[in-house]
Amino acid sequence: MELLLRRLAVVVAVVALTAATAAEGYNITKILGDHPEYSQFNKLLTETRLAGDINRRRTITVLVVANGDMGALSGGHYTLPTLRHILEMHILVDYYGAKKLHQLARGDTASSSMFQESGSAPGTTGYVNITQHRGGRVSFTAEDAADSATPSSFVKSVKEIPYDLAVLQISKPLSSPEAEAPVAPPAPVNLTELLSKKYCKNFAGLLASNADVYSNINATKDNGLTLFCPVDAAVDAFMPKYKNLTAKGKAAILLYHAVPDYYSLQLLKSNSGKVSTLATASVAKKDYSYDVSNDRDSVLLDTKVNSASVTATVKDADPLAVYAISKFLQPKELFKVTEDLAPAPAPEGPKKKTKKKKPSTTSAAAAPSDDSSAADSPDGTPADDVADKAAAAPSVLARWVTAAATVAAALALAA
Ligand SMILES: *[C@@H]1O[C@H](CO)[C@@H](O)[C@H](O)[C@H]1NC(C)=O
Ligand SMILES: *[C@@H]1O[C@H](CO)[C@@H](O)[C@H](O)[C@H]1NC(C)=O
Ligand SMILES: *[C@@H]1O[C@H](CO)[C@@H](O)[C@H](O)[C@H]1NC(C)=O
Ligand SMILES: *[C@@H]1O[C@H](CO)[C@@H](O)[C@H](O)[C@H]1NC(C)=O
Ligand SMILES: *[C@@H]1O[C@H](CO)[C@@H](O)[C@H](O)[C@H]1NC(C)=O
Repeated sequence: MELLLRRLAVVVAVVALTAATAAEGYNITKILGDHPEYSQFNKLLTETRLAGDINRRRTITVLVVANGDMGALSGGHYTLPTLRHILEMHILVDYYGAKKLHQLARGDTASSSMFQESGSAPGTTGYVNITQHRGGRVSFTAEDAADSATPSSFVKSVKEIPYDLAVLQISKPLSSPEAEAPVAPPAPVNLTELLSKKYCKNFAGLLASNADVYSNINATKDNGLTLFCPVDAAVDAFMPKYKNLTAKGKAAILLYHAVPDYYSLQLLKSNSGKVSTLATASVAKKDYSYDVSNDRDSVLLDTKVNSASVTATVKDADPLAVYAISKFLQPKELFKVTEDLAPAPAPEGPKKKTKKKKPSTTSAAAAPSDDSSAADSPDGTPADDVADKAAAAPSVLARWVTAAATVAAALALAA
């Protein structure tokens, strides 16, 4: 039954990913990269991590300014969190191609911006007035702009992907006292304390015992970090394998659980794809990525060696998200890839030769086909299954079964 569940879960993940890759995305950094005259604005979109937010959205308009028009946006007037608010004001959550702009009914409209959506903008601040003047000139004004502020004028359309993305150049940054207001720095977070308080005390211990890893993750947490921490039972179950890793391997597998970008639970539940990790960045020429997919309300991580599900939210507040997961993730760079749907070997006379001689052959011979997790266990109990039973909430398993049954039914129909 364990094995069946695992296989069905893999099928579900593959189906979700296939659906996800069908939707083509765009890359605002790349689009603006073709226009060096906006390089400063482009750089700020990356530094404030808004580029990722833009790429994940559809039906959106980005108002950009040329390098020579940046004004107070260049030269370190604002802290990064304040810059983020100002730039959010320049991202309208509706599509305004040049044609639509010039056909505005009554020549006037108000559009919501990402600043408004962020929840940081009180009242109607965060809206942008778009006005068409006599003679065809179009101007943009933040709703809360001072009366004395002159509007920003539409200059030209830089890029349009109809109904998805419009990039328009305007003459100068929008002026908005609310967006420009100093942002209080986030309360300092003690990672060890945060993880220890809920679900992940053992993982916190592993991080704390590796100073380089800890400081790398700690330094990333203020600029966008999603940490998947295996629950205590999962760490216990994995310890025999962990202890076997070299110092480099240990560092890599800990960093593997940290994704240098902030993903809200909502986003994880509605998007699928591959994520890079801090291990990707710190181990040269190694991939160290894995697939994130969702199935109804559950989020699955699949490394191709094993898979884990998100069991609880420890913290979810931009720029830091910490989620408890059911298993210790095993990178394909360090462990043998599971043959997903390989037929189970006959119980007697193992035809498939394991690469290393095992001191105890009885447990290996009796183990199910999923030998990557079973054969290495000292006591013959598949380490992952221990974690499964101890950590996974029954409701999550139940959902897997339901979803898997749906897929099975679909496959039966197709056959
Ligand atoms: C977007 O494009 C930039 C520049 O070409 C590149 O460095 C970055 O990795 C791309 N981002 C994604 C998510 O593909
Ligand atoms: C924006 O438009 C609204 C409604 O048309 C108007 O009441 C408001 O004064 C305008 N704000 C600015 C700053 O132009
Ligand atoms: C973080 O919390 C841990 C455990 O409570 C404590 O040992 C450590 O000194 C704290 N670190 C900082 C920098 O406050
Ligand atoms: C962790 O980062 C905070 C800043 O967010 C810093 O104050 C603290 O000293 C760092 N702790 C360690 C152990 O590097
Ligand atoms: C640890 O490594 C040794 C030698 O490679 C191997 O025999 C043993 O099965 C490994 N133990 C685990 C738990 O992976």
